[in-house]
Amino acid sequence: MTKKKRYTDALNHPIFEYISQAATDLELETYVIGGFVRDYFLKRNNQQDIDIVAVGSGIELAQAVAKLLPNKPKVQIFKTYGTAMLRYKDVEVEFVGARKESYNENSRNPVVEDGTLEDDQNRRDFTVNALALSLNKADFGNLLDPFNGLQDLESKIIKTPLSPDITYSDDPLRMMRAIRFAAQLNFTIEKKSFDAIAKNAERLDIITRERIVEELNKIMSSPLPSVGFILLHKAQLLSRFLPELTNLEGVEEVDGQKHKDNFYHTLEVVDNISNNTDNLWLRWAALLHDIGKAPTKKFHQTLGWTFHGHEYVGSKMAYKLFKRLKMPMNEKMKFVQKMVLLSSRPIVLATEVTDSAVRRLIFDAGNDIESLMTLCEADITTKNPLKFKKYHQNFELVRQKIKEVEERDHVRNFQPPISGELIMETFNLKPCREIGVLKEAIKEAILEGEIANDYQEAYDFMLKKGEKLGLIKSK
Ligand code: CTP
Repeated sequence: MTKKKRYTDALNHPIFEYISQAATDLELETYVIGGFVRDYFLKRNNQQDIDIVAVGSGIELAQAVAKLLPNKPKVQIFKTYGTAMLRYKDVEVEFVGARKESYNENSRNPVVEDGTLEDDQNRRDFTVNALALSLNKADFGNLLDPFNGLQDLESKIIKTPLSPDITYSDDPLRMMRAIRFAAQLNFTIEKKSFDAIAKNAERLDIITRERIVEELNKIMSSPLPSVGFILLHKAQLLSRFLPELTNLEGVEEVDGQKHKDNFYHTLEVVDNISNNTDNLWLRWAALLHDIGKAPTKKFHQTLGWTFHGHEYVGSKMAYKLFKRLKMPMNEKMKFVQKMVLLSSRPIVLATEVTDSAVRRLIFDAGNDIESLMTLCEADITTKNPLKFKKYHQNFELVRQKIKEVEERDHVRNFQPPISGELIMETFNLKPCREIGVLKEAIKEAILEGEIANDYQEAYDFMLKKGEKLGLIKSK
């Protein structure tokens, strides 16, 4: 008989010795399971999260491990779930007792009973996530793989251990997870499984928005986010939480004039941008940059298809969307809004680059000018190679111009050369409307290039403008 391979090299981290020792002391069968084992076989460097399953009490095991560890870490206990967590060196370890579980129809909260390792593996999401390595002294490093997960890893396939209808209906978040893994790892979802997702799609509504967004962000961070988005769409999931995006799908034709399919265009832009940045929020901006096009779309006899003001409408929609999905309402949201709002500005510039337009762009985009340029270049999805080349060349000109203008005029973080106090002092004014009018006029004159961004020129301009307003210079 051939000896079974032991995967002890997966268990080099010192934490496993301690867990194994504690398990022996408590006479508990113990395994490492889930993402850690999957990623070991995939040779992914993603081994900071370790999931431990004990046939017995996970909480007691965690406490025993903590006592053995030199730093005696605190054990965080989650009574409702029967789980416990501790940190040691660079890893976060979660302990759970093996469970036989069935989920309540209307919530994620499971009805839990103690079970064997196999019961526990049965109720996990995917065969590739059900792989377990033994931490028991007698067979340390032994692989327990009842559903051929290792084979599925090699064939790059997402399958559920039980019938997919049961697995997804038990915990509908898994429908998102299946698609997330497919996008992240470049796996295929088994047909039977994919059909079950489409069938159970509406069950996603019982999942909290935070958890949906967590998966969505992982899809967004994957190498080609469109892979995940197209699967989400085909599985009828996407419109459940991002209807603004799916509303962009389709091509309409009037009088022989068509507009592009803005849904697939958007996904191309997200992929393009993902080649150039890891910035999750810039990826979000790419995803939302055209959402205002659905509500603003009109057909005009002479102009053809128009989407007037879609950037402004889109930026308002982005705010509502973030709010609805319980996403951060802080500077991240503001950044996305700003990118959506400004998303057409550099494109307009690419046909005619004037100094004043460039100054305005730098002024409005501020420190986000680089991100905006990256977004706008990603927005070039024309299939005509000549146009593609021309647009990119024009953008190169815009970039150069931005550099030139910025070096000369310093409008990026524009600080008005004349303060409100100075205006008040000069014209002997109490706080009043004219101060704002003068400040705005000075800013406009600088952006338009009428005067330089310089104290003396601005001061002289203020005197002239003040006089026109009927203000009298104090002595
Ligand atoms: N799991 C599950 N159903 C879920 C979530 C998790 O069955 N809805 C199981 C899987 O066995 C999974 C393990 O719990 O491998 C750990 O889950 P989690 O830490 O969320 O994900 P990982 O698989 O570790 O993957 P990643 O770290 O990429 O999120």
